Amino acid sequence: MKPAPQRSPSHPSAGSARADSPAAALLLDAFRDAAGRDAGRLFFAPGRVNLLGAHLDYNGGPVLPAAVDRGTLIAAARRDHGRIVLRSTLDARHLDVPFASLPEASQGAWFDYPLGVLVDLRAELRDVLGAKGGLELYFGGDLPIGAGLSSSASICVGTAFALDGLLGLDLVRSRLVQAALAAERGFVGVQCGIMDPYAVGFARSGALLWLECKEATYEHVPFDSERLVIGVADSGVRRELARGEFNRRVAECAAAYAALADGAVGSSCLADVPYELFAARAASMDPVCARRARHVVEEVARARAARAALERGDTSGFGAAMFACHQSLRDLFEVSTPELDLLVEAAAEVDGVLGSRLVGAGFGGATVVLLERGAEADLERHVGARYAELTGRAPRIDFFRPDGGPREVPLRG
Ligand code: GLA
Repeated sequence: MKPAPQRSPSHPSAGSARADSPAAALLLDAFRDAAGRDAGRLFFAPGRVNLLGAHLDYNGGPVLPAAVDRGTLIAAARRDHGRIVLRSTLDARHLDVPFASLPEASQGAWFDYPLGVLVDLRAELRDVLGAKGGLELYFGGDLPIGAGLSSSASICVGTAFALDGLLGLDLVRSRLVQAALAAERGFVGVQCGIMDPYAVGFARSGALLWLECKEATYEHVPFDSERLVIGVADSGVRRELARGEFNRRVAECAAAYAALADGAVGSSCLADVPYELFAARAASMDPVCARRARHVVEEVARARAARAALERGDTSGFGAAMFACHQSLRDLFEVSTPELDLLVEAAAEVDGVLGSRLVGAGFGGATVVLLERGAEADLERHVGARYAELTGRAPRIDFFRPDGGPREVPLRG
């Protein structure tokens, strides 16, 4: 028996960034129950998908992500009890500590992400909160965790944005993004690149973000939402990105660069290494490092060529680069799974699908699909059936338009 797809084909994303969305209603009720009063303010930060530039951010290359219109909601209120209270609708563990003694190290819980942001912004917060000021922040939303949509950057950028808005800190966006990055790298301990907080923090509605990670400079690339749709197919398989395999890939790329750097005059990262140099040295390199390096140098060229293709309207050329990227992630970077491979393979069989690849770090999670508007139902039907044959369950498939980034959600009344 084929399980039915979980959403109607034309259903847009869940769109949690509204006070009347189910996720917001759940969160606001939970806040009222726990705090005994209404949340004064509600904030939203999206998740993100990356279309091209896989595993390039920490290698200094270009990436091309978009924010998605599902994300983290934060109900927030100032208190005068001198405490910081962090709660979630998704996890019963909570933090309730005096602001004056915020934990300095990771607590091994979901609230490490917002806590890391609070620790990074402590000086700015102290000025405003003084000795007596406190905060109550309640987290919810509709972004699947560990699915490759960067729930971590969403919660971190969202926390920084909510603190800024709630307390009137008036910080520039780059400071908020930097606090998010500090939380993930310094506090949680994932050696991630800059892509995720930039993709969330500098998103523009209707556009992709072209980010040169070595220089940390970006431009917005128009995305034709009348013609094109971004789909995300969730394999339902989760694997913690934190530390482990992800940090190993970061270390392998660093080792690859160390083996090539002396020949790459003027370079400062693996993405700078010319293909010819890599090709000349590949046979003498450690084979694992050589595979990682090949992915990186080829993906840099692929991403640049694909952006040019998109800008001249060659969406098929852009999609072909996404398929090639997936193959490289599977064979050279070795971060795919049989479930993700099947999702990509099945998507490729659908008319109107232009490209697909695993999204985020890999090791489970989701695939991103670029498709022509109108092909959504066929994609759900075909991929749902093929996936169910292998796993016995239907993948969740959502469709997105590039979202506009963090914002306050107006509360009624
Ligand atoms: C994870 C990391 C990002 C990036 C991707 C791979 O999502 O958080 O910084 O490295 O993997 O492209």
